[in-house]
Amino acid sequence: MLLAVPAETRTDERRVALVPDVVQRLTAQGWEIRVQSGAGAAAHFTDAAYRDAGGSVAPDEGALYSGAEVVVSVNPPDPHQASAMPEGVLTLSFVQPAQSVDALRALAERRATVLSFDFVPRISRAQSMDALSSQATVSGYRAGLLAAEHLAKFFPMFMTAAGTVPPAKVLVMGVGVAGLQAIATARRLGAVVRAYDVRAAAKEEAESLGATFVDLGISAEGAGGYARELSPEEVARQQEALARVVTESDVVITTASVPGRRAPILVKEDVVRAMGTGSVIIDLAADNGGNCEPTRAGEEIDVEGTTVVGVANPPAAMPTHASLLYARNVSNLLALIGRDGAVAPDWADEILIGCCLLRDGKAVQGATAEALGLPHEPIAPPAQPGPDEGAAPR
Ligand code: NAI
Repeated sequence: MLLAVPAETRTDERRVALVPDVVQRLTAQGWEIRVQSGAGAAAHFTDAAYRDAGGSVAPDEGALYSGAEVVVSVNPPDPHQASAMPEGVLTLSFVQPAQSVDALRALAERRATVLSFDFVPRISRAQSMDALSSQATVSGYRAGLLAAEHLAKFFPMFMTAAGTVPPAKVLVMGVGVAGLQAIATARRLGAVVRAYDVRAAAKEEAESLGATFVDLGISAEGAGGYARELSPEEVARQQEALARVVTESDVVITTASVPGRRAPILVKEDVVRAMGTGSVIIDLAADNGGNCEPTRAGEEIDVEGTTVVGVANPPAAMPTHASLLYARNVSNLLALIGRDGAVAPDWADEILIGCCLLRDGKAVQGATAEALGLPHEPIAPPAQPGPDEGAAPR
């Protein structure tokens, strides 16, 4: 079971898919791990540490992929990497099919199997494999710190000999995994926090962390625990009602997203202009278009005294622990793939079925088939036992 870990090629990426601790665990389970030289350097994991953990280090891409059965990365393989991989390889990373068409086409030609963390089902059994959640935890924490760093005021209330200073008012919009962590971080720093989401379940979760929930009476529960896209009328009603709450805040942290769509706009440009000078917006949805109209991904802009930070790839800014959590998610998912010393995915498992885009080069997921113009050939769900089969022995 030879598994390769390439150096990430995305600009400004600092994470790595496996860390030495997890390499040690996987090696004990029978995996042979090969890491590209320098792959962990930006996350502070040296080549020597991977060797000490039982892995080997490949000097270049050619040596890395030679004979590899599984390739694990954080970002999707790029087209060049995809065409350097061996026939029949299995890849595991984040991949959104519409954004990786060329790489997926190259992998389909190589009869590869492609698994994506973007589609791991949100079921209890899959929580330990849920890399979307582990990376969102890092993003939310980072957002709280970035907000405190950019605000020219204290977060906590201060009672000093020079008088009392009131606490900062923080509004968190989008109370999923990242939003909850942003609330917790802002509260730990002493801010007064309000929170807003369109899912009813978010109210109790936000309140349990000490935030006050802003209820606008718009409910948009979607499938699988996610939110649905709002109608144009709901969007207009929401933006109008939110304007007052936003302009009362020193800090706004936004994390709202709807799977497969551009991030919803929650804060229009005129509302940003109406915020007090010195206010701060941290937009965690920047990579997906932003929740705030003026946001530009990877940039910090000034809109009439309000700083709008469009955070690009937020977990990459805390690469050591982001990589550690990701590596644990990888290791837990690999338990469904490497069995009895062989790469033999359990194709009866709903987690693998849910996150598989290509199997032996065939498009088994609808969105992948559509993006590549291939026939959609779904994996058949495991046969249900008939009325007489599987019955308890009499
Ligand atoms: P996400 O990243 O898809 O979206 C972030 C938040 O934005 C969500 O709370 C969503 O409701 C909110 N949102 C979307 N459109 C909005 C709008 N127009 N206005 C305001 N807010 C808006 O969410 P994430 O963090 O991936 O969590 C989604 C759901 O999955 C949650 O219910 C979470 O509890 C659940 N979950 C379940 C897991 C499991 O059972 N394995 C693991 C992780 C999350």
